[in-house]
Amino acid sequence: MTQEELKALVGRAALEHVVPGAVIGVGTGSTVNHFIDALATIKAQIAGAVSSSDRSTERLRAHGIRVLDAGEIERIPVYVDGADEIDPRGHMIKGGGAALTREKIVADLAERFVCIADESKRVDVLGRFPLPVEVIPMALPQVARRFAAMYGGQPQVRDGVRTDNGHPILDVHGLRIADPLAMETEVNQWPGVVTVGIFARHKASLCLLGTRSGVQTLRY
Ligand code: 5RP
Repeated sequence: MTQEELKALVGRAALEHVVPGAVIGVGTGSTVNHFIDALATIKAQIAGAVSSSDRSTERLRAHGIRVLDAGEIERIPVYVDGADEIDPRGHMIKGGGAALTREKIVADLAERFVCIADESKRVDVLGRFPLPVEVIPMALPQVARRFAAMYGGQPQVRDGVRTDNGHPILDVHGLRIADPLAMETEVNQWPGVVTVGIFARHKASLCLLGTRSGVQTLRY
């Protein structure tokens, strides 16, 4: 199976975790696109979706799925999203698609985070994938210097990219994130950081991992 087929497999498998009659939280990315297409087949059974990006909102609406504003909702049972990396405890790096801030906001509304990923995303220690950080433009050099000084990474501004919130992304290469919760907590304090793409406080409750022998369910 190709990587795309594995993504489609877990996108469809996530339907099992959609709660009938409830609003579903929807992430962003190529794996989630498969989930959205699958969700369209059961759209009559859900109350609508809350979306983590303009791209996902567009795709949901194109399928005739009602999209609600995050501000209208207090709690949702399930949030479904992909990841750039996931470690053995369900901590993730996210933001490869620059949607990390809204993804964390919607994940925060949810009782459970269902991660959908192909097996290439599973790692022992986070950090091989460059860590995305959404930053207020005037703080970019300051945040980059602090990263290099504290963690030894090599920060690079992502070329030509602005998030849905209008901010640039700093990708920090060469990290080894042994304690994701500690790094998330620390970096979130730095002036100018909007969101760091470590999802440790909002880690996965379970991961549907697409492997050559089928979908594996990992619980955390
Ligand atoms: C977007 C994300 C995505 O979930 C992550 O980049 C995985 O994407 P894909 O499913 O395309 O591999 O965090 O900001």
